[in-house]
Amino acid sequence: GALDAKIKAKGKKYYGNIIDSNTINTAQVTNILNTEFGAVTPENAMKWDATEPNRGQFNFGNADSVANWASSRGKLLRGHTLVWHSQLPGWVSNINDKNTLTQVITNHINTVAGRFKGKVYAWDVVNEILEDNGNFRNSVFYRVLGEDFVDLAFRTARAADPNAKLYLNDYNLDYNGPKINNTVALINRLKARGTPIDGVGTQAHLIVGNLAPFDETLKLLASTGLDVAITELDIRIAKPVDSAKLAQQQKDYATVTTSCLTTPQCVGITIWGVSDRNSWVDGTFPNYDAPLLWDDNFNKKSAYTGTDNALN
Ligand code: G3I
Repeated sequence: GALDAKIKAKGKKYYGNIIDSNTINTAQVTNILNTEFGAVTPENAMKWDATEPNRGQFNFGNADSVANWASSRGKLLRGHTLVWHSQLPGWVSNINDKNTLTQVITNHINTVAGRFKGKVYAWDVVNEILEDNGNFRNSVFYRVLGEDFVDLAFRTARAADPNAKLYLNDYNLDYNGPKINNTVALINRLKARGTPIDGVGTQAHLIVGNLAPFDETLKLLASTGLDVAITELDIRIAKPVDSAKLAQQQKDYATVTTSCLTTPQCVGITIWGVSDRNSWVDGTFPNYDAPLLWDDNFNKKSAYTGTDNALN
């Protein structure tokens, strides 16, 4: 595909996007994915609530569809995500003893990562585990197991799929402060104790006009020595959308792509949606809009041009 071919020509592994049951049968989306992108992430289908809604009862319908779509078209697959506090069924959140939670995490990762063994380029093993103030999030995982849950998750994932790159993934790593500093410190502790971590993912849910430190923070993540991936890129616009803001969005998409190109450890970029019509932003941020490269009618926006120009 076009963006994917161009980023590969610059030495990167992929330009990716998302797919799931809401888009997999929409030809306008799949045509764009086929021609422009070389990797896909399931937007929701591999999350805990989708894959193990009740203890020991696994559902892989939508996850298998995404994995098959990717493999039959030669696209890389990013697995998202094994241990996350959100979209987590209540039966997990209610566990309060170490032995049970250790068994539950181990079985979940063995079963989910095991099912897609050999088919996943990279797994987001843990997602969003720190707060913006740099402290661990008060999830069931941290409350019951402390920091050890991170090591447990990575070690179990490595054993379940030895060839998958294993990532810690988080948002708000795009500006300086305690969150990115403590993320780097955590990664350094994990490496020091031999925990198998290969990469750090920065989600990059950004706002138009607010990217001043993006390049600096991406390079700070790269200072860990791990692979770096931009995993959920979108750049939303405060309503009302106008031509000046769209022009700034074009620049901002170019900034992100250029930062990856100039960061040797950056392996690739995943955009969190094809068309503005399917973006999560509509439901979550009613005062923002139009975060992606294709508009509601699947026309390329100037944000596409900015991305493409950065790759030329
Ligand atoms: O599965 C139910 C379905 O049964 C029901 O009919 C429907 C009605 O609303 O809801 C469906 O669940 C929705 C789910 O997406 C699947 O469509 C949830 O309500 C909705 O909250 C959920 O939103 C997802 C969100 O994660 C949840 O946290 C978004 O699609 C997805 O884009 C978003 O992705 C996250 C990343 O995983 C992690 N980083 C942040 C990013 C954006 O929030």
